[in-house]
Parts: sequence; C-alpha cells; structure tokens
Amino acid sequence: MTHILHRALNRSFPVAVGGEGTTLVDAGGRRYLDASGGAAVSCLGHGHPDVRAAMHRQIDRLAYAHTSFFTSEVAESLADTLVADAPEGIGHVYFVSGGSEAVEAALKMARQYFVEIGQPQRRHFIARRQSYHGNTLGALAVGGNEWRRRPFAPLLVDVAHVSPCYEYRDRRPDESAEAYGRRLVDELAAQIDALGAENVIGFVAETVGGATAGAIEPVAGYFGAIRELCDRHGILLILDEVMCGMGRTGTLHACELEGVAPDLMTIAKGLGGGYQPIGAVLVQSRIVEAFSRGSGFFQHGHTYLGHPVACAAALAVQRVVRRDGLLAACRDMGEALHARLRERFGAHPHVGDIRGRGLLRAIELVADRETRDSFDPATKLHARIRQEAMSRGVLVYPMGGTIDGLRGDHVLLAPPFVVSPGELDAIVEALGAAVDASIAAVRS
Ligand SMILES: Cc1ncc(COP(=O)(O)O)c(C=O)c1O
Repeated sequence: MTHILHRALNRSFPVAVGGEGTTLVDAGGRRYLDASGGAAVSCLGHGHPDVRAAMHRQIDRLAYAHTSFFTSEVAESLADTLVADAPEGIGHVYFVSGGSEAVEAALKMARQYFVEIGQPQRRHFIARRQSYHGNTLGALAVGGNEWRRRPFAPLLVDVAHVSPCYEYRDRRPDESAEAYGRRLVDELAAQIDALGAENVIGFVAETVGGATAGAIEPVAGYFGAIRELCDRHGILLILDEVMCGMGRTGTLHACELEGVAPDLMTIAKGLGGGYQPIGAVLVQSRIVEAFSRGSGFFQHGHTYLGHPVACAAALAVQRVVRRDGLLAACRDMGEALHARLRERFGAHPHVGDIRGRGLLRAIELVADRETRDSFDPATKLHARIRQEAMSRGVLVYPMGGTIDGLRGDHVLLAPPFVVSPGELDAIVEALGAAVDASIAAVRS
C-alpha cells in the first residue's frame, strides 16, 4: 500500500534504486536502458561523478539562501555561462525550479514588459495547437493539447491557438515546404489582425515540438518569417525550449538552426539533466532594462528561485557538456539513431513517419500508411508500447493524441548524449519488438 498519489492510480511502479550512465536499476535488481532520459531530461545519463561531486561541494558550503536577501556565487556563475552562449541580445537569466514554472514566469514577464513600457492594453497570447508548455494553469492555457486542457478549460485564460508546424500531417501534397511554412505564417498574421496587433503580448511556441506531437521540426524559414512578423507588430517571440533546448536537438539552443533570437526563452530539462529540479527564462536585455527603468523589479518570485544546489548541479552539467564535446556527440548519435530507425521502420506498415533532430527522435504510428489513419484511441497503443518496451528492459516515451489530442500515437526517444552505438542497436531492437507485439495485441 502506497501513500503517494502516483501519476497513475491503477498501476504499480517498480522502485528505482540506482542509476549509472544510460542505465537505471530497480529494487529487484532489474536494469533498464534509459532511451528517453525520463522525459528528455537526463542528458548526461545517471550518476555522473562530476555532477555528484559539484552537488556535494555545494551542499557542504551553502545549501540555501533566500534570493530576497542574497545572491550566490554558483547562481551568478551559471547565469554567466548561460548568457555567454545565449542567442543574440539575451543578457539575463531568471532561475526557477522546472519547465512549467519557467513558462509561467515568461508569460508574466512578457505582460509586465508591456505594462512597464506603457502598453497595458496588450493582453493576448497566441500559441499553437498540439503544443505542450507545462501543467500549471498559465502554461496549460498556452498549451494546445486538448486532452490535457479540457477538464480545466473553465479555469484557463483565453489564448488563441494557430496550427502547429506539423509537416507530415498538414503539408498538402501539392505544396512545397516553403509554401506550407508561408501558409502557417499567414494564419498567424490573420490571427494577430483578428485580435488587433496592438493587443497582442506574444507568440509562444516550442522551437521543435516535443511531448505532445513527437519531435516535430519547423520547416525552413518558418521561424524567420515569424520573427519578422512579431517585430513588425512589436509582439514578443517566446520560444519554449524546455525539452528541445540545452543540446537535446544537437545545438545548445534549437533556435540556432532557425537563425532567430527570441525575446524570451524557457529552458529546463537538459539544464540540470535531472540532477536537481531547475529551469530558467533567458531574457533579452531590453526587457530587463524596461523593468529597471520602470518599477525596478519583476513582480514574481518563488521560495526556491536560484537554489544553490540546483545551480551547482546545472553548472556542472553544462561544464561536462562543453568539456566532453557532447553537442557534437548528440548530433552524431542522433544521425545514427535516425539511420537505425529508418532501417527498422522505414518500410514498416504501421510507422508513418520517422522524424526529429539530434537526440530527440520519434516514430508516428498509423493503422494504414496510405491513408495515415491512426489506431483507435481506445486501444491505447502508446501505453502498450511503453509496457512492452519496459518489459524488454528499455525505457521509451510514447504518447497518444499526437494528431489532435485524441487520435494518433507516437514514441519519443531521447537517450542521454553519452549513449553508445551498441546501445542504439539495443534500443531500436527492443522498440521494434515492442511495437510489433503491441500492434499484434490490439489487432487480436
Ligand atoms: C516544451 C515544454 N515546456 C514545458 C514543460 C513543462 O516542464 P515541467 O514538467 O518541468 O514543468 C515541458 C515538459 O515536458 C515541455 O516539454
């Protein structure tokens, strides 16, 4: 009998007792190859000695000091490191304890910015369907996953949602990728006009879509055109890189490949790699200057902002990523994973798409490759695949509702950047067997 309110009430969970590298171990001694890094969190894998040592040192020195009284050396060093490698114009970092908190803070920062500069009429956010920005009320409001939003809809602020950039499903057969991207930007422009550009605070988007749609990449030129559109109307571009950022897609920030710098950017998972709960908002200097000239503070705050042990863990993770060349490793292993996925699933009758970037990869499952129809959501194919893979000792991250929050299934893979080629073989082999066994079960 457990007294924990677990995520799922009618399931029992093995007890995790240890982890090293790409492996997690349960209380029964069973070993699991972590092919999803939890939810794309564990970029260095588990038990990294440098990160453990840095955390021990920090705990022995100073575990906690409230940020309304003090700053800490370690938080300052982490902020210096992040700003040094940030997109152009980013000059400050606001530390929180996770992804949803980072999104909440970014939304409030964006709103406060317009209050500070004398445009208090700006009150609307525009975001995308099929996005995931977290589970707190503000983050859920900008999020576009219907299933997650529905029970809480009466509590959510009104946010306009436009189409995601989801080429496999939404690009017309007679349309070039470029024309598809333009169509999406036109849709956003029309939404801005409908709300009145002078009333819009910001456009919120994951640079590479993660949890709810499964590693969907933007088409070339899409974010560049959005950046221009936002600039034309004085609207803030808020990129959520909680999942796709901090190296996960092969560059430190996913927006580097798009050639755009956001006004605000949220990061979290790969920042601390799971060693401590930490997230952050990276902020353009002009936003901070407006606060500084105006009220002189950001009207927000949590007890654990800039927690020294969390900052020590994140700083150690970031140093290892840079020292060990793990961004290049992520790109190389990402290509190798993609090649293996293509080999195993390229002609699979029930895999419609293989996609992603770096070590954020996904396969999308279909009942029929021609029509691209999904499996009946009642079969919960994604949940079966998770169990089948886990029973084979491999942790993957499947999700349902890929297409519209209800229909569709995908499996996300996000192994640690230190994954080996041999482990990639093992992941793809177990995933293949799990997919085949699950489809056979739902068909019988
Ligand atoms: C893009 C994105 N934003 C925000 C979040 C929320 O982060 P957290 O679960 O740390 O609150 C997630 C989590 O998966 C995410 O993928």
